[in-house]
Amino acid sequence: MATRFRLLFICLGNICRSPAAEGVMRKLVADANLTDQIFIDSAGTAGWHTGKLPDQRMTAAAARRQIPLTSRARQVHPSDLQSFDLALVMDHQNLHDLRSFDPEGLHKQKVRLFCEFCTDHPDTEVPDPYYGGPEGFEHVLNLMEDGCKNLLTHIQKSLLTP
Ligand code: 4NP
Repeated sequence: MATRFRLLFICLGNICRSPAAEGVMRKLVADANLTDQIFIDSAGTAGWHTGKLPDQRMTAAAARRQIPLTSRARQVHPSDLQSFDLALVMDHQNLHDLRSFDPEGLHKQKVRLFCEFCTDHPDTEVPDPYYGGPEGFEHVLNLMEDGCKNLLTHIQKSLLTP
């Protein structure tokens, strides 16, 4: 079965939040036997960490939940807006940066805040854990496990419509 949905997660550095989103979603998609149908990637609005594995604190927190993080950081590219079906950003700054790639708003509906999919948390953004303590990384994963579950349901519905 060919890929039918292309999903991109975006944060600032692509070493904490969006790799965690990618890892959590990969596992849910694999458990639903949809790996062949849903392509998942992540990227950062900044290119500082290009080529690096995720931050060790994020990887360790995810590993405690049996979620492997294996992505390599890359910077988001304007062409990602054409090639992906949905780009989920972690905060309003990411949203602003992505919108600057698309001044005419041609792909406006494709770029959404990740927290729109969270139903068990009141957060409107996924807070950047990079300069904080270990609880920040746990909070990121809690948000990811909440939002990705609903995101999968959303994508499954869209796969049903021809
Ligand atoms: P992320 O976190 O956007 O969730 O990957 C950050 C990673 C690195 C930096 C900032 C945020 N940094 O300043 O290097």
